[in-house]
Amino acid sequence: MAPAISSTVPQSPTIKQLCLPTFQSPIGKFSSNSIQLLFSVIVREYPRADQTLGEPLNNSHTPAEAITDDSVIAVFSDIHSNLEALKAVIEDMDACGIEQRYCLGDIVGYGANPSQCLELVRSMRCSIIQGNHDAAAGTDISLEMMSPGARFGIEFTRKKLSAPQRRFLRGLPVTIVAGDHQFVHASLDEPADWNYVINQWEAQLHFSFQERSVCFCGHTHVPAIWHQSAKGKIRVAKGTGSLRLPRGGKALINVGSVGQPRDGAAEACYVLFDCKSRRVEFRRVPYDNETTCRKILRAKLPPENAERLRAQR
Ligand SMILES: [Fe+2]
Repeated sequence: MAPAISSTVPQSPTIKQLCLPTFQSPIGKFSSNSIQLLFSVIVREYPRADQTLGEPLNNSHTPAEAITDDSVIAVFSDIHSNLEALKAVIEDMDACGIEQRYCLGDIVGYGANPSQCLELVRSMRCSIIQGNHDAAAGTDISLEMMSPGARFGIEFTRKKLSAPQRRFLRGLPVTIVAGDHQFVHASLDEPADWNYVINQWEAQLHFSFQERSVCFCGHTHVPAIWHQSAKGKIRVAKGTGSLRLPRGGKALINVGSVGQPRDGAAEACYVLFDCKSRRVEFRRVPYDNETTCRKILRAKLPPENAERLRAQR
């Protein structure tokens, strides 16, 4: 199963080649202004979780399946009730022969199939952590700070999920540690506050809490690799193709989004990671997004939740 990472993009660049020397243009060809605009849109969509939840979330670090030096793992996030994208990603993982899988949360929200997606993820018997949409759907937290698209998505989801399903979501941990790897939905800086890592300062904060050499996250729906050198210098690379992590320092891998990509590509995104070679492969998987859009519209969810998938924003 190991060749899945190294063989698909044999001549891919290293992270050093993709990294820019400063933070002025952090992700490849995009200008800093366009990146800031992109992230400002994202941030408006995601309110911080607050401390008004009806019952405390389980924020403990939970044991996960052991990761060895020979492990190749699949890490996926932000499914957002998109059943077609989730099924396509699972088929791709199966085809790659990857059995060790980690879900970084936001299973629900926005889309029309929250219950089906939740049950499908649970059936995978993989390690699962909580995202902000899972926390909102699993509790009665106020949604007034959410954008209309997100708010209606959560209200719809709360009605569609059973009481045990909602209990499952609110009981999920917000971080997992496995070997030399950590997993979190947003940032290790107060994980249940769902802080974004979209600039150098936020990355610095995250890394100050990262105790292992590699951490995986989602939340922004934009795949990327952040790296902090042993001297503390932080760089970021666009999450595309296949990249080998440098030895030394710490890396934060944003695995992108299965069901709501926001990096200009319509395909579902997830990551394969070869622990021995430290190679990261960003997998892009096409799926039937027109069916997903029709379901969203038929469910009377906000049209923007469907248009976003079509428009590839
Ligand atoms: Fe999300």
